[in-house]
Amino acid sequence: MLSVVILISGRGSNMEAILNAKLPLTVKAVISNKASATGLQIARAAGTETRVVDHLAYPSREAFDDALLKTITEYVPDLVVLAGFMRVLTAQFIDQLHGRVINIHPSLLPSFPGLHTHQRAIEAGVKVHGATVHFVTAQLDHGPIIAQAAVPVLAGDDPDALATRVLAQEHILYPNVLRRFASGELAIPWRADPSVLQSAVPRVVQDPTLTTGSASLRAPWN
Ligand code: GRF
Repeated sequence: MLSVVILISGRGSNMEAILNAKLPLTVKAVISNKASATGLQIARAAGTETRVVDHLAYPSREAFDDALLKTITEYVPDLVVLAGFMRVLTAQFIDQLHGRVINIHPSLLPSFPGLHTHQRAIEAGVKVHGATVHFVTAQLDHGPIIAQAAVPVLAGDDPDALATRVLAQEHILYPNVLRRFASGELAIPWRADPSVLQSAVPRVVQDPTLTTGSASLRAPWN
């Protein structure tokens, strides 16, 4: 059975959605870089092992990544699932995990990498926004796209309203991606080579709310 370790830094609502989805996979542990992350309590309540690797306890990014990698490898996961993990990881860390790290980002990448995505989407005047699950590579928020969920940007949206609409889709998207890895429909790559990753997975856009009627915007699982 597919095994994963989930990394969080805070609220952990995506992690909770993954746990609640009762997927055919084993969540071996939830690891946070902050002891105060409320998601840790949710994981413990669900009976999932939790660990804290506090980034403030290490003198450098490299030292933290080393400690994090050691903790992750104790569990020998097939995939490392970043779910609101707010630390930039070193290229060495990602390389040592052979490309087996995935992340969810609250925008339709390659638009709006980085922070404050909802605010920036509104300011840019885009009519469609969303979330992306992608492989993690050394370049922040630029790894090969695995799946996306789109939502409309509505007149009068503020960042919070838009974030709420996107987050609801994230909670569907991430469990669905993991279900597809668990079934073998999506291949787990062995090397952090973007060209290999790109050919390993199809792109899909999942969106029950868009009204464009475009068949290409329908997900295979809907
Ligand atoms: C989500 O919006 C996710 O896309 C981003 O950080 C947020 C985490 O939220 N990477 P949560 O901790 O899963 O509730």
